[in-house]
Amino acid sequence: MVNGRTYAAQAEPRMILADFLRDELGLTGTHLGCEHGVCGACTVLMDGRTVRSCLLFAVQAEGHELTTVEGLAASDGALHPIQQAFHDAHALQCGFCTPGFLLSVHELLESNPDPTELEVRTWLSGNLCRCTGYQNIVEAVLAAAERMRAGSTT
Ligand code: FES
Ligand code: FES
Repeated sequence: MVNGRTYAAQAEPRMILADFLRDELGLTGTHLGCEHGVCGACTVLMDGRTVRSCLLFAVQAEGHELTTVEGLAASDGALHPIQQAFHDAHALQCGFCTPGFLLSVHELLESNPDPTELEVRTWLSGNLCRCTGYQNIVEAVLAAAERMRAGSTT
């Protein structure tokens, strides 16, 4: 299941999950940067936990619930509070790293709704961004946390 939708598809045993999501399901929001587990651009959620989709085979995801960046916004198109906070805080430039950051932040705020700045920086140390210098990303995460604690859905 991906973003709440059940797919029945076949994958060669050697196909990595990122390629499957992008090429077979058309979910091109998952990006490939380093392709060896370092940059975090390919991060998706599997059963609510972040995984590097460049390091998993597609067949390993069978029977699990996946969330990609396409699954964050509401069905009416309203941005998820984390997406909205990134937009508001100018936390992206080229945006290549952003899907991975959003999903990493999603896992963080599920487990720790009120993180400190240091906790945010430590958590996001596995996601690399070549554009922003990280400051606005950290500010966006803290803003998203505050909005989500207040019950905002956007
Ligand atoms: S592409 Fe997967 S961690 Fe960089
Ligand atoms: S916004 Fe360009 S790599 Fe992060």
